[in-house]
Amino acid sequence: MSKLTFTPVPVTGELHLIGGEGTVIHADFRDVWDELVSRFAGSARVVYLDPPFNTGGAFEFRRGKTQLAYRDSVPWEEHLSLIRSAAELSKKLLAPDGTLFLHIDCAVAAYCRVMLDEVFGRDAFTNEIVWAYKSGGRSKRNFSNKHDVILMYRMSPDSYFNIGAVGAARGPKRRNHMKRCVDETGRVYYSIRTGGREYRYYEDDPVYPSDVWDDVEHLNQRDPERTGFITQKPEALLKRIILSCSEEGDTVVDLFGGSGTTAAAAAKLGRSFVSVDSGAVASAVTKKRLLERCLKMRLYDANRPLVTERGKVEAGELPDLNKYFDITEKNGRVTFALKRLPAGARPFMLSAGTVEDGIFTATAYCLDPVFGDGIKTEAGKCVHLVDESFNEYYFVPEIAE
Ligand SMILES: C[S@@+](CC[C@H](N)C(=O)[O-])C[C@H]1O[C@@H](n2cnc3c(N)ncnc32)[C@H](O)[C@@H]1O
Repeated sequence: MSKLTFTPVPVTGELHLIGGEGTVIHADFRDVWDELVSRFAGSARVVYLDPPFNTGGAFEFRRGKTQLAYRDSVPWEEHLSLIRSAAELSKKLLAPDGTLFLHIDCAVAAYCRVMLDEVFGRDAFTNEIVWAYKSGGRSKRNFSNKHDVILMYRMSPDSYFNIGAVGAARGPKRRNHMKRCVDETGRVYYSIRTGGREYRYYEDDPVYPSDVWDDVEHLNQRDPERTGFITQKPEALLKRIILSCSEEGDTVVDLFGGSGTTAAAAAKLGRSFVSVDSGAVASAVTKKRLLERCLKMRLYDANRPLVTERGKVEAGELPDLNKYFDITEKNGRVTFALKRLPAGARPFMLSAGTVEDGIFTATAYCLDPVFGDGIKTEAGKCVHLVDESFNEYYFVPEIAE
């Protein structure tokens, strides 16, 4: 076998020909403010913001081993100032008929309501949505906190809104004091007579959500949607927001993208997305989540490319690749096969492709490497490794003379 060398290459972004049409940006949104405004001003039909709740703790990503995802403890004024900045930037990114959703907890909701009135105007306030859930423990010292607040502000009274897109059939739930009947066409309805009039409630008629959303639960530990990101929200919540306030082809923006729930829901619904997060874990999890979905569905849609952008990754030092892989070469084909490693020591993902003008275009993936799995590429092509601590490396295997 010829001797292989591995040359690190600097990369400024990635292009994936699958994943849904959108951009994942690994940055503090305040640092890329001007760039976001110049590229996306006035173009978002929906902006969803789910900032850290400033719980005083730190949130983890759990996969084999536990990794810090983001710290959630800053002085109160700093916390409010972060939310205000996000609201001000959102206003610039929103289309004239767009809508903002700010997801917060009851500790900060009243302050945010006043703040958003200032930023968007009192008339823009549309709803205070209460997301009520049952999960988590119960306190005996006070009434357990079982809801979040989602503040909804419209850019104009004509902002796009289609309640019809989020109705659900009334269903066969038993109704007290009502008689179950079947009409001449076979449709089931429940009937009640008052004031000499008959009121009919058909089982298959849609019922539209009110401002209390108690029909969407937090994801349970075994939910297939779970990524391991602790503060991940259910896609069902985002789907309701996106479906009611945007149409196919629209752009949905999230400035606190986390595990990419907004991006994933938007991609599934044929919207494009911009997902920004300052955390390395968040941006890697988002990228993998979007790619995984496409690979699982055997969908290769070159018209809906996913772009991921990040601060420049310098060539830097490579880790000991032999720690992870058995690396072999035959006729210019290089194979990276994962060694037997405990879950917490395995790389997060691996891909191979080409680098042109600093942009890595992936053509092959190994998204959840397990023993023996790996990637085959050609000498001279680029390999991208996200290790177990979410460090990212791009390098080219070459055959030494
Ligand atoms: C509550 S989580 C979002 C969870 C997300 N909705 C989901 O479903 O996974 C908040 C996120 O905001 C990110 N964040 C905090 N400050 C930020 C900033 N200034 N710019 C961009 N992202 C930030 C954190 O890294 C974290 O991932």
